Amino acid sequence: MDKTLNGIKVAVGVTGCIAAYKAVEVVSRLKKKGADVRVVMTKSAREFVGPLTFGTISKNKVICDMFELPDYSEVEHISMASWADVFLVCPATANIIGKVASGIADDFLSTTIMAAKVPVIFAAAMNNNMYDNPIVRENIAKLKKYGYCFIDPDEGSLACGTVGKGRLADYDKITDVVEYHAYKNKDLLGKKVLVTAGPTAEKIDPVRFISNHSSGKMGYAAAKAAKLRGAQVTLISGPVNIKPFTDIDVIYVNSAQEMYDAVTASSDDADIIIKAAAVADYKPLNIAEHKIKKTGDMSIALTRNPDILNELGKKKQNQILVGFCMETKDLIANAEKKLKSKNLDFIVANDLSREGAGFKTDTNIVTIIDKKGQKTSIDMMSKEDIAHIILDKCVQM
Ligand code: CTP
Repeated sequence: MDKTLNGIKVAVGVTGCIAAYKAVEVVSRLKKKGADVRVVMTKSAREFVGPLTFGTISKNKVICDMFELPDYSEVEHISMASWADVFLVCPATANIIGKVASGIADDFLSTTIMAAKVPVIFAAAMNNNMYDNPIVRENIAKLKKYGYCFIDPDEGSLACGTVGKGRLADYDKITDVVEYHAYKNKDLLGKKVLVTAGPTAEKIDPVRFISNHSSGKMGYAAAKAAKLRGAQVTLISGPVNIKPFTDIDVIYVNSAQEMYDAVTASSDDADIIIKAAAVADYKPLNIAEHKIKKTGDMSIALTRNPDILNELGKKKQNQILVGFCMETKDLIANAEKKLKSKNLDFIVANDLSREGAGFKTDTNIVTIIDKKGQKTSIDMMSKEDIAHIILDKCVQM
């Protein structure tokens, strides 16, 4: 698992609801991502899960009682609110939401939330009728107005036997939202970023297609990095096997033509366009209506796909346009040629023949060449770190 929460201090408040057992997994995932987690449990939460479980997983003492003698080798109780970088209430019941909305601070958790000056996230979970109750709705609206963040529950069957909106949101969503709030640099706030990722698949017949080895990891990392930095992100993705970061608008496409259509529909109001997709240059001239049967040797007639980046370069005005290029020889010369011919602001070139670069890896080795001819070679690093370097350069520009 990635270490994207390394060094981040997360306070987790657990309240009394059956989803308290799921908070154990949330704490475990936050720990695996490198966060330092301290858990506060309400009295009713302890009816569902024991503090020992959270203590073992978080490797920190669990705070249960407002009037426990402080252990000075640990964080003092009262400083918990200022210790944390992010405060997650998970699960958040109607009761804790109501208390905070009404200014009630009568136990350790509600007191600490009230004193917190860091982002407070409520991952709501409760019976669907409770969630629909106008009092709860009003409390949530009030807290949102004051800047508290809510992760809506999912729809589904609930422990109480009903079906509706009330299940704790999925684990990835919760850890993504924590990561979003823990990431302090929001230098892309108010900006629109369009990213393309993954391969395209060009149909031959109903069962076959032409594609390439692109995994989409670089593009998905760029979309996530832009989201973390506050941008409104649209990700146009070819067929890949990656879950996108939370709250990114994803448009799934298959062929280059579909990607072209989706990109042209959203490119005009984008401030930054990052074209990480490995678009197939050719597609079959004709798509067979039925599965092609084997005979002797055969060949498939191909025709050109639109060059999406080239089209964007032609109509570019105030946008920052970033291209990628992947080569097996003459990396710099080819990259410089594409940078010029496609009218890019910069190009991110990677040499497929180097270990740790290219398709499917979590790392990449790239050289960034900008339109002024400045070249920056970047040693092997994670695609997420490279994504941030790319965005740093966009921000500078
Ligand atoms: N690209 C695109 N549409 C295409 C082909 C490529 O938008 N039909 C974009 C890619 O997303 C990438 C850049 O152009 O950002 C360079 O892609 P690459 O495949 O390296 O180069 P090509 O321009 O296709 O040239 P060649 O295949 O001849 O190397």
